Amino acid sequence: TGMFTYDPGFLSTASCQSAITYIDGDKGELLYRGYPIEQLATNCDYLDTCYLLLNGELPNESQRKDFHSLVINHTMVHEQMQYFLRGFRRDAHPMAVLTGLVGAMSAFYHDSTDINNPEHRQIAAIRLIAKMPTLVAMAYKYGMGQPFVYPRNDLSYAGNFLRMMFATPCEDYVVNPVIERAVDRIFTLHADHEQNASTSTVRLCGSSGTNPFAAIAAGVACLWGPAHGGANEACLNMLEEIQASGGVAKVGEFMEKVKDKNSGVKLMGFGHRVYKNYDPRAKLMQETCNEVLAELGLENDPLFKLAKELEKIALEDDYFVQRKLYPNVDFYSGIVQRAIGIPVNLFTGIFALARTVGWIAQLNEMISDPEYKIGRPRQLFTGSVKRDVPPLAQR
Ligand code: CMC
Repeated sequence: TGMFTYDPGFLSTASCQSAITYIDGDKGELLYRGYPIEQLATNCDYLDTCYLLLNGELPNESQRKDFHSLVINHTMVHEQMQYFLRGFRRDAHPMAVLTGLVGAMSAFYHDSTDINNPEHRQIAAIRLIAKMPTLVAMAYKYGMGQPFVYPRNDLSYAGNFLRMMFATPCEDYVVNPVIERAVDRIFTLHADHEQNASTSTVRLCGSSGTNPFAAIAAGVACLWGPAHGGANEACLNMLEEIQASGGVAKVGEFMEKVKDKNSGVKLMGFGHRVYKNYDPRAKLMQETCNEVLAELGLENDPLFKLAKELEKIALEDDYFVQRKLYPNVDFYSGIVQRAIGIPVNLFTGIFALARTVGWIAQLNEMISDPEYKIGRPRQLFTGSVKRDVPPLAQR
């Protein structure tokens, strides 16, 4: 058994070669295809970023227009998907619903089933990017007991999503450009993050040659966990609990619990396997938080104050300094989303929507790699040596 390298949690194993996303964890730097996340989040929109991740270069003006209209033309989902969705309890967690819906896409679109066929992958990619906002909004509306809102193709990607979320038959939703921009930025910041748990899951799942929608559904399932995409939900729940127990005055007490290893309490939205410095996405998210709260007249939002106080204390505290724990993307994203009116249990669904393009780009890259084979890790066996099955009476 000594032939295999044992690396629990893959702390030092590169599972693939990739040219998509680069993270310098010590500097706190994130590049998609070489471009700094700060520039992409400021000078480009989410669909530009999708194009970049998928194709390696930013689109020129005509490529941009074509890509936008291609995506926009696939925003509707098969009408029958509604009946599949209606099988869920109304109080089901949106991530449970979304895992099911994305997996179910494999049963609806029969011309994009072959993961090894580049044309199939291309159409599956467009469908997924186009339909994820529709599915997330449908999961939300279903939980609310409200009718579904069909996509409108004259709106931007983020604007259409907001309208599908918040329009009702009684009142249309007028897109506020500040909110639209914020949502677009949330999407961009979450678009890819190299070989994180859900992306590695998608690669491993796809490596068997499974249906592309099924591979993405596996990514959604993995993202759900609180150590990964579920952290934004867990972070907001944490802030609300501290607020309910007394707010800023109770921060010290809470921090003592976090530092007590036996308490099982973590400062959610802090720490990262790769970043040992400020997560650049957290900085951009904090900026967006300021903009959105100002636009909505919520500058005094108590949770934002609380988050900033927690951050301030943590960044000066030995426990966090020694372990190089800094805010990650999830620390502020929940506050922005909550201000916009997105319910806490939908945060991870929005993360999944945004990360879909990263999963697809990584899947494409893997399958196009001439060295690609099925992922099949080995093990160090620690179980029993060979033995005989005893008769029932002797067990
Ligand atoms: N609060 C308190 N202590 C922490 C935290 C935290 N948030 N994060 C790490 N630590 C401690 C940890 O207990 C360990 O201490 P010690 O060395 O004394 O045993 C040390 O810091 C190193 O942490 P680790 O758990 O060994 O690091 P990891 O790379 O295995 O885990 C992590 C990374 C992100 C899972 C972890 O930092 C964490 O659980 N953070 C909270 C959840 C969170 O915000 N996740 C979102 C990650 S970013 C977005 C995404 O990926 O979806």
